[in-house]
Amino acid sequence: MGRVLAVVSQKGGVGKTTTSVNLAAAFARRGLKTVIIDVDPQGAVRYGIGLRRGHPTYGFADYLNGVRNLREILLPTALPWLRAILAGSVSDATDHTFYQQLIAETSVLRDLLTTARERCDIVVVDTPPGLGPIVHRVLEASQHVIVPLQCEPLALQTTPQILRGIQEIVEKNRDLTLDGILLTMFEPSHPSSQRVADYVREHLPRNMVFDIVIPRTEAALEAFAAGQPVVLRTPADAAAQAYVNLATLLAERFR
Ligand SMILES: Nc1ncnc2c1ncn2[C@@H]1O[C@H](COP(=O)(O)OP(=O)(O)OP(=O)(O)O)[C@@H](O)[C@H]1O
Ligand SMILES: [Mg+2]
Repeated sequence: MGRVLAVVSQKGGVGKTTTSVNLAAAFARRGLKTVIIDVDPQGAVRYGIGLRRGHPTYGFADYLNGVRNLREILLPTALPWLRAILAGSVSDATDHTFYQQLIAETSVLRDLLTTARERCDIVVVDTPPGLGPIVHRVLEASQHVIVPLQCEPLALQTTPQILRGIQEIVEKNRDLTLDGILLTMFEPSHPSSQRVADYVREHLPRNMVFDIVIPRTEAALEAFAAGQPVVLRTPADAAAQAYVNLATLLAERFR
């Protein structure tokens, strides 16, 4: 049985999708059978995972509402061990109410995560910001969770909320482990970035924050714009190396 690893955060734009696509690619590069699932209606995985040209755009939302079957939504990527399930048609819609309702009121998401786990070593789930009903459902069926925290002062205000939220879910899902908080977009030359990193390390339990830090790099930004994980596009980049190291650490932990 594989593991479901959810990437969640209270705040938006902190590097969840970047973390999801790069960890998924790095796991697959290690030979682990990996699937990345995008449950965020924004559907950003589609732009970052490195799909083949002319790929279909349907995905999880279309499976959820019964229009597509699992075979149809499971898309190949440039890596033989990596498949992707995109958000699907919900990412073109402005109203996500029905999508959220289906997730909250049916067991389709839970069942999909269980099936994916049975067939893969690692299931990486990219989520929308916040701890809404979609993220709750994901965490109820996950074994691992990572919380990216952007190294900027505002990040600190929202961290206690997400930790409390995860704690509440862990009480219901005893299989779930908070693997760690991941400092992202770290800029060593910015004193404010350093201050946030120091503050987080000082105020949170030591084992709750990964030693590995993801730097903000030009290559990471460009890779996303070019539609590819930076670990594949620019392997020598510092952010790419940090993601590969994190994947190695997690893969060893999950063994
Ligand atoms: N290490 C990095 N270096 C440079 N840019 C980065 C890095 N990580 C993320 N970014 C950029 O920051 C922006 C936000 O990242 P991303 O989309 O991964 O965040 P998110 O948490 O998934 O956002 P949302 O909450 O909207 O889903 C993107 O433009 C991304 O390319
Ligand atoms: Mg995202």
